[in-house]
Amino acid sequence: MSWTNRDRRIIIGITGASGAPYAVRTIELLAQREIEVHVVVSTLGRRLLLEECGIVDVTASSLAGHSDPAQVVLHSGRDMGAVIASGSFQHEGMIVVPCSSNTLGALASGMTNTLVQRAAAVTLKEGRPLLLAHRETPLSRIDIGNMDRLAAAGATIIPLSPGFYTQPRSIEDLVDFMVGRLLDRLGIDHDLPVRWEDVMLGGQPSVDSETASNTVPGGGSRSNT
Ligand SMILES: Cc1cc2nc3c(=O)[nH]c(=O)nc-3n(C[C@H](O)[C@H](O)[C@H](O)COP(=O)(O)O)c2cc1C
Repeated sequence: MSWTNRDRRIIIGITGASGAPYAVRTIELLAQREIEVHVVVSTLGRRLLLEECGIVDVTASSLAGHSDPAQVVLHSGRDMGAVIASGSFQHEGMIVVPCSSNTLGALASGMTNTLVQRAAAVTLKEGRPLLLAHRETPLSRIDIGNMDRLAAAGATIIPLSPGFYTQPRSIEDLVDFMVGRLLDRLGIDHDLPVRWEDVMLGGQPSVDSETASNTVPGGGSRSNT
């Protein structure tokens, strides 16, 4: 498989934390932008895809959503010889979404027992962007220490905690908020509603800190974005 500067590739690792819909939506949007999406799913990641997205067969088609499945390359989570396990594989970054505390801990300690872990560790050592969209609550001090260690090593920790300032109306809105922030971090264009400036342009009244205590949250006019 040859690679040129015109080609765009992103790796997606899906692990067994709650939040599988974030993964499917991220893959769909990347594929829509004609980015080659290399996907690897952990064993528990498959279970969460079933329980949260109803995906029985994990295939390029089932992960691509409404986009072209030809853009999605699915790797076996056990295949440590897959191309994404090699530092010579050229790509623009990897997103582990959702990222479990288990995978967080493995990465923080340098363990690479699965292809998700190996691809992420290689992304880190090669100095490419590694986004860890972690989901667990509350956090133990071990989680916090692991995050600190990985952030110091160059990873970006992005907790799956959507904002509400865009006044989401649905689960899809919440998912899109987080996916938009993930794409932002990799410099990938999108028009998902994540920007405070769009909320302001959409007519959200300005409330200063002295009057905010008398204001009902979400009581302003809804943004059109
Ligand atoms: C239904 C279900 C939900 C889970 N949710 C989370 C979660 O939100 N965060 C987390 O860190 N682990 C969660 N777990 C536990 C992980 O799946 C477990 O630690 C597993 O070993 C993760 O392996 P992996 O990192 O290789 O995917 C969940 C497990 C199940 C069965």
